[in-house]
Amino acid sequence: MTANLESPVRDRPFLRSVSYASCWEDPLILQSALQVQPGNRILSIASGGCNTLSLLLHDPSAITMVDMNPAQLHLVRLKMAAIRKLDHAGLLELIGVRDSTRRQALYQQARFGLAQADQEYWDANLPLIDQGLFRIGRTDRYMMVFGKIIRALYGRRKLERLFAAETLDEQRRLFHRDINGPVWRTLFKVFFHRAVISRAKDPTHFRYVDFDGFGDRFRKRTEWMFTDIPLHDNYFMSMVFLGRYRDERAVPPYLLAENQATVAERLDRIQFFLGDLESLLGATEDHTFDRFNLSNLFDWVDDDHLTRMLKRVVRSSKPCGRLVYWNTLMPRPMPPVEGLESHAGEAAALLEKDRFIYAHFTIGEIPGNPGDCESPAVAAPPPCS
Ligand SMILES: C[S@@+](CC[C@H](N)C(=O)[O-])C[C@H]1O[C@@H](n2cnc3c(N)ncnc32)[C@H](O)[C@@H]1O
Repeated sequence: MTANLESPVRDRPFLRSVSYASCWEDPLILQSALQVQPGNRILSIASGGCNTLSLLLHDPSAITMVDMNPAQLHLVRLKMAAIRKLDHAGLLELIGVRDSTRRQALYQQARFGLAQADQEYWDANLPLIDQGLFRIGRTDRYMMVFGKIIRALYGRRKLERLFAAETLDEQRRLFHRDINGPVWRTLFKVFFHRAVISRAKDPTHFRYVDFDGFGDRFRKRTEWMFTDIPLHDNYFMSMVFLGRYRDERAVPPYLLAENQATVAERLDRIQFFLGDLESLLGATEDHTFDRFNLSNLFDWVDDDHLTRMLKRVVRSSKPCGRLVYWNTLMPRPMPPVEGLESHAGEAAALLEKDRFIYAHFTIGEIPGNPGDCESPAVAAPPPCS
């Protein structure tokens, strides 16, 4: 077994408070790629919890949620307590989907469902609760400041109109008429300049990106979403550019009214691991998991580290296992690892529908005996609502 593998960023200050209040990876892409089936055992990076909680809807038997940032796990457990203890209106208010003047009272209700360590964390951070949980992460706030600047310069009405467009043609026309131009391009260049974004997040995030011009890349991807993917259900773009969820039907699947009871009933299937994935995989028995949601974890490690982690994933996977990961800027195609097959074509097709700014998406499969694995034809993800 490979020893001495630990995350190179585990001690960064960035990981001591909530960094991601929501998951920015598209859950529809995630499920289309992972094809979670009833009974699967999933290993999933926690982050803001939205995607892992949404995976419960596909009826896995168990999920191990891992994160090396304790604040992320405190956040996920608060969301879980809210799912259990609040009605749907209260849940949406605490998360921030709905406006609210009673978030402290809602927290007190959810608090009964929390273990002592989580209660202590949130009791010491009560002012965060007032903001609505989706606004409290450092990364989330950075992106929302960008949206605020755009709104200040263009006016909220133009953006609201764009998101309300009923057809893609109309959306495209409004984008080119009202938004596109030198100001738009310059804002991306400045706000997402390597120096600015590295300061706002953490320099280690982009250490392995061997080019500059981040702003142009993010802009082109955003323009793709503004012109080629419907915006009306794109809650990622809505959080950034409108500073809010604009529609209670355009939310992560676990927040839909009809899903709360199912998610609540299955929350007991989640176990937590506080620490780095490297250590968890090092201590995991062979053939434990069927599905791996690895977020964009490998942005932060070099190629050798990636290969070593994927070997651990393969060892801990059952036959017919599937894994996914995203990359923000730097493509990290799957290195050759024995027992791991890449589905690059499927991944590229899904990335075209992804509702956020990722540059690269990877799907890997740990094959089983011929005929054992259902080979799902990767269909276009269903519409959000
Ligand atoms: C990779 S980050 C990216 C977040 C993602 N882009 C999103 O939208 O949710 C997600 C989470 O991974 C955690 N993380 C990063 N590297 C890790 C590792 N090696 N082991 C465990 N957790 C890790 C971070 O603390 C963070 O909460």
